[in-house]
Amino acid sequence: MEKYDVIIIGAGAAGLFCAAQAGQRGRRVLLIDNGKKPGRKILMSGGGRCNFTNLYTEPGAYLSHNPHFCKSALARYTQWDFIALVNQYGIAYHEKTLGQLFCDDSAQQIVDLLLAECEKGRVTLRLRSEVTAVSRDENGYRVELNGAQAQAEKLVIASGGLSMPGLGASPFGYRLAEQFGLRVYPTRAALVPFTLHKPLLEQLQTLSGVSLPTVIEAADGTRFKESMLFTHRGLSGPSVLQISSYWQPGEFITVNLSPEQDLNAFIDEERQARPNQSLKNTLAKPLPKRLVEVLQMLGIVPELTLKQLNSKQQRALTDSLHRWRIQPNGTEGYRTAEVTLGGVDTTQLSSKTMEARETPGLYFIGEVVDVTGWLGGYNFQWAWSSAWACAQAL
Ligand code: FDA
Repeated sequence: MEKYDVIIIGAGAAGLFCAAQAGQRGRRVLLIDNGKKPGRKILMSGGGRCNFTNLYTEPGAYLSHNPHFCKSALARYTQWDFIALVNQYGIAYHEKTLGQLFCDDSAQQIVDLLLAECEKGRVTLRLRSEVTAVSRDENGYRVELNGAQAQAEKLVIASGGLSMPGLGASPFGYRLAEQFGLRVYPTRAALVPFTLHKPLLEQLQTLSGVSLPTVIEAADGTRFKESMLFTHRGLSGPSVLQISSYWQPGEFITVNLSPEQDLNAFIDEERQARPNQSLKNTLAKPLPKRLVEVLQMLGIVPELTLKQLNSKQQRALTDSLHRWRIQPNGTEGYRTAEVTLGGVDTTQLSSKTMEARETPGLYFIGEVVDVTGWLGGYNFQWAWSSAWACAQAL
């Protein structure tokens, strides 16, 4: 039986950072992962450049049944703290948009940083090790892995959510929480593309690859102003991924296809200057041409010249374009989702240490917890902040 002070299950963003911090505080740490490599999602993230934090991180950018829970950890280990660490390692980065910080070169640099920090803390990293069972007795927690056993006074669950099963995602953390009597909120794929019902999908199919700026609104009034992308399965792009976290099956979303320009005023101006111009050619100025062609096929854009278009038709048209209501069929699910909504109920955890209130020595950090960030580096920041807060208590 191997003995440690702390066992951490999951060598993703949260587990690696927590292990490094606890190790550097003098704890003997065993970090276990079922994959061949640590930090597999980090390597995949941000198109291989890892959007490692967001300059505008604040609690309002997180969804949870208990929205106050994330405040303490986010305030104690901030985006500025992680940026200082990235600077310390001389990693070059840039702001892409909306406060999103990406490595200039490669996500591997963030994994290397975390591994170097683990080395400083003399962390024992065990890869290709699936944890199959956990039990608790008077000596602490006993973990079964690949026929071997390890024991520690403290156990940290950093096994992530269900998104991307191909990268090792498993329901392990949720089942373990339930084993120790913690409630787990139902999970759902989030930051995920929408699929469309067949008839609409067929009509929009030729638009695959077309992207445009939009404002998308969910039924609860939440809106995001970012670009939308038509795909061969449905809709994607940042505004769609963001709104997917607020969408419930069966609900409509409302898409403003021209958020920057009032199309009513634009058509009025064009009519003055070019009354014989077709409506189609007019709209192809502010909107992608292929989209206007499809909207004409759908009967949303009538085949008229500007002088033929009466004010009632114009109002109906511009309302449709500024408030296009779409009912998604569903989402692409965990296969392509960036994160998982729901998870371990935070009311049963200490927001200061992430420890289960009724089960001393058991901690939950990162995505397995019911805290889910927006797209744009917020999820990694939650991983760093929750890991750091936990490590101070180990
Ligand atoms: P994470 O999932 O990273 O790690 C959990 C680890 O536990 C995994 O390595 C898994 O193999 C292991 N594990 C699970 N069960 C186990 C068991 N029984 N035994 C042993 N090991 C087990 N976020 C962001 O802020 N910026 C970004 O750019 C991106 N980009 C991005 C791209 C893609 C493709 C995805 C899928 C996700 C993102 N994200 C993101 C989200 C981000 O990756 C995610 O929120 C964090 O990785 C969560 O970190 P955790 O450490 O909690 O889980």
